[in-house]
Amino acid sequence: MSAEETAEPTRRDFLYIATGMAGVVAAASVAWPFIDQMRPDASTLALATVDVDVSSVEPGMSITAKWRGSPIFIRNRTDAEVEQAREVPLTALKDPIARNANVPGDAPATNDNRSAGEGRENWIVMVGTCTHLGCVPLGQSGDFGGWFCPCHGSHYDTAGRIRVGPAPLNLPIPTFEFISDTTVRIG
Ligand code: FES
Repeated sequence: MSAEETAEPTRRDFLYIATGMAGVVAAASVAWPFIDQMRPDASTLALATVDVDVSSVEPGMSITAKWRGSPIFIRNRTDAEVEQAREVPLTALKDPIARNANVPGDAPATNDNRSAGEGRENWIVMVGTCTHLGCVPLGQSGDFGGWFCPCHGSHYDTAGRIRVGPAPLNLPIPTFEFISDTTVRIG
């Protein structure tokens, strides 16, 4: 039996293996600078949270902040707008899930599960991109007094829940908290 026919590695096989290993090491050393560049720098990490001053947002007003490249709607709803949202039965909702990152699980999309929490029921904070194809809806408009997306006609109510139109889901609520009476931290 010749050396080529045995299962034992021959000297030639060893040379192939050794060359292959050198290739792997070379590839790894070339890849590392690219991987290293993909790590977020300090300025990117700083944008992981954004503090927004809402001291000038009176009831009935809203502002749009920017967080991680997305518009964030922050609205101080009037008592009437909150009542209007509370009166809607869950059975009337197209998307019955709260979609609130601060409320665990698939909680129902009641007004209270979508508002900013106890004592701050009038406030609502949402990612301002339509759940249909991502346009930015207009505030204080539409058939339900909430938001209206003019791209294809989606109407959201005063709790940001989709009511009519092609959008399938409620506007999502990001992780956020009031860190003082006048400052909302998003993220
Ligand atoms: S993107 Fe809003 S309705 Fe189509």
